[in-house]
Amino acid sequence: MNDLNSPQTAVICRICGESTVHLFLDLGRMPIANAFLSSEQLSQPEYTFWLKAGFCESCLMVQLVEVVDPNMLFHEHYAYFSSISRVMDEHFTQLATIIGEEILYDERLPVVEIGANDGILLQKLTEYTPNTIGIEPSANVAAVAREKGLHVVSEFFNMDLAASLCAEHGPAQLVVGANVLCHIPDLNSLARALEALLDAEGVFIFEDPYLLDIMTQLAYDQIYDEHVYYFCVTSLNRLFEKHGLRIFRIEHIPVHGGSMRVYGCRSVSSHPVEPSVTGQIALEGERGLESLETYLALAERVQRSRISLTELLQELQADGARVVGYAASSKGTVILNYCGIGSQMLEYVCDNTPSKQGLFTPGTHIPIVPIDQFAADYPDYAFVLAWNHLNEIASKEQAFRAQGGKFITHIPTARIE
Ligand code: SAH
Ligand code: TMP
Ligand code: ZN
Repeated sequence: MNDLNSPQTAVICRICGESTVHLFLDLGRMPIANAFLSSEQLSQPEYTFWLKAGFCESCLMVQLVEVVDPNMLFHEHYAYFSSISRVMDEHFTQLATIIGEEILYDERLPVVEIGANDGILLQKLTEYTPNTIGIEPSANVAAVAREKGLHVVSEFFNMDLAASLCAEHGPAQLVVGANVLCHIPDLNSLARALEALLDAEGVFIFEDPYLLDIMTQLAYDQIYDEHVYYFCVTSLNRLFEKHGLRIFRIEHIPVHGGSMRVYGCRSVSSHPVEPSVTGQIALEGERGLESLETYLALAERVQRSRISLTELLQELQADGARVVGYAASSKGTVILNYCGIGSQMLEYVCDNTPSKQGLFTPGTHIPIVPIDQFAADYPDYAFVLAWNHLNEIASKEQAFRAQGGKFITHIPTARIE
């Protein structure tokens, strides 16, 4: 680990351009988290990259060191359909209500959603304004949104698209994006595009996993190819301020294991900065988010978490227990590969996403099966590879528990629930 932080390994920051990014966490070579494999692909070499996280001492942005080309991640076979989760559906209903009741101010002006996916939020927004446009580069999920009658442009959001949207539809009263900002490698361009698209009093709202929650819960499996950045309010606000934008409100929300919803506007807009912003920035300072030592301590806790998980699974295996994985999540790819857990430890991984069933987990090649198979012959243990959905899964699987089945979860340390 020490060599991770030697001067030779300091790399250039994607945000501020300084050579002040210190590597603090090495999760090893990793396949693309959502690159599930067909049986034919199992014998072919898999694309892998080096999954390492760094902290920039100059601008405080926590970021991936090696970034996978977005065209390899977001395409016509994107595996994640937002509507698969009931909890997320309820979450977006609440967000749409806030937007409809507090944020929208001129129905002639468009609402633009970046990363609209299968239209889960956009559809709810159409109940409040007729003028909505979704931006969604992954063609298969965009097609599902279009089937719902939504207006979706299947492209990456960038400066050219922002300019043409603005020319055709007028400046946006709202630009909203959930779990997409952290996916975009060039955030300086993104901020410029945002600045170009927003109306003078327009608002932007972004939700992304929150760095402080990742640290508190040791949710290191949030670190994977799609998540180029791990934001705190301090780092994100500094980025926006370089581009004539600012954050005026933040809300801490429970989804995806703890996320941050930021509300922003042009620097010159009339929205006053609310105490939630200054309060959170102060808290982040108290919690050491400006100090490299905090991140090095995190990396040590990650290593200990790996040991506790592999020891638990090995003990169960030695006792002859049947253990399966539950939910073929992107986070699961990180856990399985980093901890070296393959089909010798997990009989299969069950998942309710039809497009994942029949495929195999990236890197570790465990078969993915429908939930029916789990229900037809319950194992002794189900290791939940989507700890953020544990409550939802546990409430669906009461029959499994009732007949003696147990869940395993690994964060912050491995335990049987
Ligand atoms: N907003 C949804 C989907 C999040 S997944 C939710 O929170 O559930 C991220 C989505 O962003 C994917 O559907 C991906 O195709 C899309 N995306 C990735 N890069 C993008 C970009 N540069 N512009 C617009 N959408 C992007
Ligand atoms: P994600 O963390 O990459 O979004 O993946 C979560 C996976 O969990 C997704 O493939 C669907 C699966 N899942 C289930 O199988 N059952 C459930 O009840 C829930 C909520 C998710
Ligand atoms: Zn920087």
